[in-house]
Amino acid sequence: MSQTKSTNITQQDASVTRAQREALLGQRGAVVWFTGLSASGKSTVARLVDKALHERGKHSCVLDGDNIRFGLNSDLGFSPEDRNENIRRIGEVAKLFAQSGTIALTAFISPYSADRDRNRAINAPGDFIEVFVDCALEACEARDPRGLYAKARAGKIPEFTGISAPYESPKEPEIVLQTDQEDEVRSAARVMAYLDGKGYLRSPAGWVTPPIEPLNPRPPALGGPGERPAGSAPRSGS
Ligand SMILES: Nc1ncnc2c1ncn2[C@@H]1O[C@H](COP(=O)(O)OP(=O)(O)OP(=O)(O)O)[C@@H](O)[C@H]1O
Ligand SMILES: [Mg+2]
Repeated sequence: MSQTKSTNITQQDASVTRAQREALLGQRGAVVWFTGLSASGKSTVARLVDKALHERGKHSCVLDGDNIRFGLNSDLGFSPEDRNENIRRIGEVAKLFAQSGTIALTAFISPYSADRDRNRAINAPGDFIEVFVDCALEACEARDPRGLYAKARAGKIPEFTGISAPYESPKEPEIVLQTDQEDEVRSAARVMAYLDGKGYLRSPAGWVTPPIEPLNPRPPALGGPGERPAGSAPRSGS
């Protein structure tokens, strides 16, 4: 599904560069990819980080599992192929946000390493920050805020990650949050500390916003401003 089918398409150049947008926002765009079991705390921590960023005057957004499945990915289910396509589309959307200077926080179980690695690979180095929300299955199941584990154990939800479908832990995530050992406020603070420490929350020194140039420079008009070329009739009724 990820192959480009269209022909006769070309990339359009941006009129405002990413560096210009980031200078304006005073931050660096990035994808902060939360991955972990259901109920591990991805949405909870992502929302806290979003709030903390907002309070710091930084521009961010949260792409969250179920919300996306109501809209963009409403045609997809939970088979391995559909999970793969789900994560591929989210990765592309998150990349667009990052390129616009936004810090995109994504909260998806994203159980397969290959899917996450592919999303890392489509981004520039440093643009993809993998956050492993590491919480023991027993703790997730004990929380079960939406009763999903109970349903899965009762056989009412097929292909449920951790119960009847696999979860592949990240091998080299940028951040590990042990949410069965620390509270969500501490986890969010650790993500903020990472972003701050690595320079995502300021413009790189030396970036300036240059003046706006015309998109398609035109040759100078004949005559002065407001003058008609000799012999031309005044226009009327256009
Ligand atoms: N340390 C913690 N970090 C995050 N959440 C915690 C923590 N301790 C308890 N919780 C609770 O665990 C639940 C985590 O649910 P949340 O919806 O954030 O998980 P999720 O990983 O987004 O799951 P899903 O994949 O099903 O969307 C919440 O009810 C939250 O209040
Ligand atoms: Mg969630």
